[in-house]
Amino acid sequence: NVLILDFGSQYTQLIARRVRELNIFCEILPYNNLPVDLTDFKAVILSGSPYSVRSNEALHPDLSEIKGKIPMLAVCYGAQYLAHFFGGEVAPSDTREYGRANLDFIADDILFKDVPQNSQVWMSHSDTIKTLPKNAVLLASTKDVKNAAYKIEGEKTYAIQFHPEVYHSTDGTQLLKNFLVNIAGVQQDFTPNAFVEETVEGLRQKIGKEKVVLALSGGVDSTVAAVLLNKAIGKNLYCIFVNNGLLRKNEFQNVLNQYNGMGLNVKGVDATERFMNALAGLEDPEKKRKAIGRVFIEVFDDEAKLIDDATFLGQGTIYPDVIESISVKGPSATIKSHHNVGGLPDFMKLKIVEPLRMLFKDEVRRVGASLGIDPELLGRHPFPGPGLAIRILGDITQEKVRLLQEVDAIFIEGLKEHGLYNKVWQAGAILLPVNSVGVMGDERTYEKVVALRAVASTDGMTADWVHLPYEFLMEISNKIINKVKGVNRVVYDISSKPPATIEWE
Ligand code: XMP
Repeated sequence: NVLILDFGSQYTQLIARRVRELNIFCEILPYNNLPVDLTDFKAVILSGSPYSVRSNEALHPDLSEIKGKIPMLAVCYGAQYLAHFFGGEVAPSDTREYGRANLDFIADDILFKDVPQNSQVWMSHSDTIKTLPKNAVLLASTKDVKNAAYKIEGEKTYAIQFHPEVYHSTDGTQLLKNFLVNIAGVQQDFTPNAFVEETVEGLRQKIGKEKVVLALSGGVDSTVAAVLLNKAIGKNLYCIFVNNGLLRKNEFQNVLNQYNGMGLNVKGVDATERFMNALAGLEDPEKKRKAIGRVFIEVFDDEAKLIDDATFLGQGTIYPDVIESISVKGPSATIKSHHNVGGLPDFMKLKIVEPLRMLFKDEVRRVGASLGIDPELLGRHPFPGPGLAIRILGDITQEKVRLLQEVDAIFIEGLKEHGLYNKVWQAGAILLPVNSVGVMGDERTYEKVVALRAVASTDGMTADWVHLPYEFLMEISNKIINKVKGVNRVVYDISSKPPATIEWE
């Protein structure tokens, strides 16, 4: 187990992802919230930070149980922190050191095993290490940054000014491997199969003979969480899949069939009317979201009460949500209003079980694959909880939902038929609250406009609109206008995030 101490750097999550790519398990903790017992950790990595070690705001970790005792790699802020507080000197640099650089000196040291001379690294700092701390040995330099890497003699303490976790540091993963495997002796044994085995055993011990309720959404996370729980406790897992009437066309039935086929103990609850009643007349996006969230909890609670003495609530929370919820102050602490942590209503006094809380999204998919879950299900685009309600601008009616379902189905089917579905991160259609004039035969029409949206992204925080082929857009547009009565115009959204968001509401 590897510990990453977070000082609020925008790159902290990336360090964790690189470490995981090496099949090594790691955990991020805020610099000021260390567990009392650190004996489980075989290595510690200190992250970068937006703060300067010289400022009053500098973050002070307690390294007394780490430095010199556990192998430690200090990155950027970490490297400067060690220099500044252990006998060296840090000063503002004359030029801002930002971007690519090359290591023109590399010492013969195990940290740089298989890292070639002139290796490209990524710099992002405004202070510079003028003199190294006590007992330090210089390990690498660039043209502008003499003290780019050093180690402390007699300790397994290493420090690097650049960011090995950033893709532009071409040998960054190799360097992390050298530190973790060759210096710290960490095993590369964190594989999907190992995760499944360990998690299932852990769930069995934690839950015993008690019952778990879990809301399935049709998405990847809740499905993988359910399959893991099912493997651990079988029929004591009670899954509830709610139809809020705002899913894609035929989705409720199709996904329910799929869940049944997977042997899950699942109950489908069609609550379309309850949701529609709650939404009637609401136009404001946040009011719609709140109404849907409220009704969902009511429906779920009603269903959960029907299960005698359930004691656990299963959730598909994944690691980025957890990191956000425990994060230090600082720029990586932005919390989306719709994230999943803390979603437990007060009146449901259940213990929480979250089998995926230590996994990143891509790891959830790999675990899902190793569990034999249908690749099509694992590859599904993200779909927002409030569903089509936030893609129908303005108030919601069943008729509008039906119309948008038809349009959306044509678009999504088309993407699949043309082999484009997997090239897109998320796609959907939006029903606009305007009518436009058209002609059909000799008739003038005055009908709805729909927008199509397809974006490329890795985590939804930023997104680029996808350059779908014109021929494809032409075919889809014709199909929609010919087949969906009530729509006479199709537009394509060419806005990226930021400044636009992925959803229109
Ligand atoms: P935005 O529109 O904020 O969307 O760029 C980013 C990602 O979040 C999804 N999204 C939601 N998911 N409840 C959800 O469960 C919501 O209220 C919600 N709003 C946006 C969106 O589909 C995209 O994947």
